[in-house]
Amino acid sequence: MNIDLESYLDRKRKRLEKALDYYLSGEDSPVFEAMRYAVLGGGKRFRPLLLLASGEHFGATEELLLPYACAVELIHNYSLIHDDLPSMDDDDFRRGRPSCHKKFGEALALLAGDGLLTLAFEIMAAAPAPANDQGLKARVAAEMAMAAGPRGMIAGQWLDINSNPDNLDPAAYQEMAARKTAGLIRVSAVSGARLAGAPEAAIQGLEKFGLYLGLAFQLRDDLQDLGQDQATGKAIRPNLARILGRSTSLELLETWLERAQQALEESHINSDILSFFIRHLQPGRENST
Ligand code: IPE
Ligand code: IPE
Ligand code: MG
Ligand code: MG
Repeated sequence: MNIDLESYLDRKRKRLEKALDYYLSGEDSPVFEAMRYAVLGGGKRFRPLLLLASGEHFGATEELLLPYACAVELIHNYSLIHDDLPSMDDDDFRRGRPSCHKKFGEALALLAGDGLLTLAFEIMAAAPAPANDQGLKARVAAEMAMAAGPRGMIAGQWLDINSNPDNLDPAAYQEMAARKTAGLIRVSAVSGARLAGAPEAAIQGLEKFGLYLGLAFQLRDDLQDLGQDQATGKAIRPNLARILGRSTSLELLETWLERAQQALEESHINSDILSFFIRHLQPGRENST
């Protein structure tokens, strides 16, 4: 069963890589070179795979979903370029390579991020609409904008850089992580289903599923950073695993993953592939989806 799911994800990952490459070609300029460097240099493609899986579960075609899946990945990559800048996390490496500003300089990295964000919305605006659209396409783009925008990820980034890493209460962390990370994961889970014309009850279930999956995703990242921070002595950003300790964090991670699974069950979404995203974040598994 898992082998089938892994090969499904591998197939989808290859389609995504090709589509991303397509959207980022056709123009030879330093800005595009920096955009290509940032996007095509690896990454798990967690969000676009989730969008494809949720959409296909509810019957949408890959052809319909791919532009939106690429759009969410471009938005994510813009956020990573800007997150690594000296004025933000000041990280020299991303995905095992020099971060975008280290390779191209700050001005080009800033513009590459801006370029990816605007290109994402260009792609969605130009994408074919689903049959009997009834405003679904515009709604998906609006929800992505809200998740990424100043009430969503941007607000979360501000909370992140303004939190005291040594004095962060778990509720404040949850608020920050919900905006900073879970929003884009939640909207990925929802957008696929919306484009497929899924019923509202399923959409509500996916909102909850995506939120808890996203919170778990950030906590898992924090747990991984904890090991690295200790190994490298790197400056520490707000990290719940550091505050709660490893074993309490692992329990919380399990709780959030259970809530994600419950959300699917409560809304009668019986999807091996969506449950696989949950299992993939369980402690002890490689975070490689
Ligand atoms: C990293 O996201 C930033 C967080 C939200 C924790 P990912 O772990 O999805 O990064 P890539 O795209 O796979 O490199
Ligand atoms: C990454 O967050 C950026 C966003 C989620 C917008 P982090 O700063 O927590 O993640 P890494 O450790 O740099 O990937
Ligand atoms: Mg950050
Ligand atoms: Mg960072």
